[in-house]
Amino acid sequence: MNQKRVYRLAVIPGDGTGPEVIREGVKVLQVAAERFGFKLDLTYLDWGGERFLRTGETIPQGGIEELQRHDAIYLGAIGHPKVKPGILEKGILLRIRFELDQYINLRPVKLYPGVWTPIKDKGPEDIDFVVIRENTEGLYAGSGGFLRKGTPYEVAIQESINTRFGVERCIRFAFEYCRKRNKKKKLTLVGKTNVLTYAWDLWERVFYEVAQEYPDIETDYAHVDATCMWFVKNPEWFDVIVTDNMFGDIITDLGAMIQGGMGIAAGGNINPQGVSMFEPIGGSAPKYAGKNVINPLAAICAGMMLLEHLGEEEAARAIEKAVIKVCRDHLKSLAAGKMGYTTSEVGDLVADYTAKGVEL
Ligand code: IPM
Ligand code: MN
Repeated sequence: MNQKRVYRLAVIPGDGTGPEVIREGVKVLQVAAERFGFKLDLTYLDWGGERFLRTGETIPQGGIEELQRHDAIYLGAIGHPKVKPGILEKGILLRIRFELDQYINLRPVKLYPGVWTPIKDKGPEDIDFVVIRENTEGLYAGSGGFLRKGTPYEVAIQESINTRFGVERCIRFAFEYCRKRNKKKKLTLVGKTNVLTYAWDLWERVFYEVAQEYPDIETDYAHVDATCMWFVKNPEWFDVIVTDNMFGDIITDLGAMIQGGMGIAAGGNINPQGVSMFEPIGGSAPKYAGKNVINPLAAICAGMMLLEHLGEEEAARAIEKAVIKVCRDHLKSLAAGKMGYTTSEVGDLVADYTAKGVEL
């Protein structure tokens, strides 16, 4: 008898529109599980702003250990208008990334056919690259402090931490990923070697050192400011990008816009040896919460990445085809409230096409 594949998923719907988009994502995952012969064992965790306001807790006692007992994490959004910025982000999202050592933030920028991009005269053949963002160091490490706080002589220091170990494992992941992706086989280091001459000296040295082991991969370098320009002018130049935490954060919002917006952009926080977490990259969008107007495709695409990560390639491809079909033949726009369908209707459409299978 064939043992059925069972995956234990921790589900954190979170704040704002998080629960609505995760509901649709789970709907699609369940349909894929049914069709491709695996099972999902879901643990829902109510972490987020509401719980924090009620209990003062971000992640409860034993929460990280709880996550560690799962095969992957599926996250909606974190951020609540009544909670001071930073508390939930640092207390939940960044804490999970750091404590589970999810040292890669993988963000595909792929324009699907039929999706509107603000970049004139560029299409799906031009916009198809992946940003690999270091996810545990840099300016996000939380190193720094105040001197003479609250006085006219106040000093605020925010340091970028770059370790040889952290930089090297990220760059190695990027070379491996680029090789496996097997498209243009070009890896671009995005940095700021002309100004940040300590951090980017290290990154550049490690990059070209590791590159020696990958003669099949073409290497390139671009400054982060110029990269923003190329994203708009010549996005087809990119295949895989590797960069630090802060630059990766910034350029992937721009990346999301050229692939059709926050309604479709998804990412994975990956620990190749541990528990990884998948999320739509947009925020909790409180002004749309509870209205059934938010686009669930980003969460659905995060679910697709999660399945791919678990080795359910076929199921992931089926979801991607369903998403392409829905974008191409149904949605008027990917923007909240302008799709021509409600959140749950979009979820139903994708679920339906995932169940039936579509030829594009
Ligand atoms: C992201 C978000 C987070 C980040 C915030 C919410 C902490 O912007 O995932 O890109 O800065 O990493
Ligand atoms: Mn961001």
